[in-house]
Amino acid sequence: MAKSSTNITAGKIGIIGAGVMGQAIAKSLLDRKIVDRQDLWGTTRTQDSAKIVEKKLGIICLHESYDGLLKKTNIVLLCVKPNQYLSALSQLRHEGLSTSSLVISIVTGVTTSAMQESLPDNPIVRAITNTPCLVGEGMTALCCGPNASETHLATARAIFESVGRVIELDESLCNAMTGLSASGPAYIYLVIEALADGGVNVGIPRNLALTIVAQTVLGAATMVHKTGWHPARLRDDVTTPAGCTIGALLTLEDGKIRSTLARAVEEAARIASQLGKGEDR
Ligand SMILES: NC(=O)c1ccc[n+]([C@@H]2O[C@H](COP(=O)([O-])OP(=O)(O)OC[C@H]3O[C@@H](n4cnc5c(N)ncnc54)[C@H](OP(=O)(O)O)[C@@H]3O)[C@@H](O)[C@H]2O)c1
Repeated sequence: MAKSSTNITAGKIGIIGAGVMGQAIAKSLLDRKIVDRQDLWGTTRTQDSAKIVEKKLGIICLHESYDGLLKKTNIVLLCVKPNQYLSALSQLRHEGLSTSSLVISIVTGVTTSAMQESLPDNPIVRAITNTPCLVGEGMTALCCGPNASETHLATARAIFESVGRVIELDESLCNAMTGLSASGPAYIYLVIEALADGGVNVGIPRNLALTIVAQTVLGAATMVHKTGWHPARLRDDVTTPAGCTIGALLTLEDGKIRSTLARAVEEAARIASQLGKGEDR
């Protein structure tokens, strides 16, 4: 099945909940030829969604009984909303999910031990990921439940490395990871939009301003990755004494940009911790 250097074991992969995230992961796996189209399948809750997924991705997508496919499947990616995971797991059990199948969950706020209550014998890996996996620039943190071996972890790593960067994280930090990285792209989109507004304000046409800002953000992020330098050092490099950058930086500090962004992460992490407890939001 696997055509790349990844070590995903032979067999089918089922995406349980082929919504925004499920489709993003599925598309990336297909685009990067990590899995053949006939070895990937998905499920949705409704027939309408299943039809859309089949058309978009060219994979089988079912909204009811999928035991035939489940029997040939050794990896299940659970991509439903937090308030849907219990019914999705109960359906998987009912349809005869093998106890040896690896279950990888991206469900926000739901711990491996909570999942293990529904699937006591399955190996479970929890993944906190984000939408840039759609363009191969995802950021994923992985942590293992008690039944997951190094091989299971390596399989999950191979899947998510095909769509971006992967780290391992202690499960106690998963809600923090959600606040920082799963929600993170939204913060940056807001920043990009605001900076583009700034460009428009000083006379640059909006389409050009967006291109300029997006490339500037990409360049700055790549500098952080490639140099390994602290952002303060990189910032100092572009801050000429009495120049324009220091004037702009002080304006941002006047607006409390640091604490505003840091508190945003704190708030998102707090909400993530409630989602897993089944609180409706
Ligand atoms: N969006 C993000 O940026 C992001 C980032 C990181 C993590 N997450 C997490 O990823 C998970 C999925 O988020 P999402 O934004 O992709 O949600 P979504 O677009 O609402 O997708 C959920 C999918 O699950 C399907 N579904 C619901 N119950 C099901 C069941 N019992 N069996 C099979 N399929 C079922 C839904 O089908 P229907 O369409 O028919 O209802 C839908 O296709 C969530 O836990 C979210 O917190 C999201």
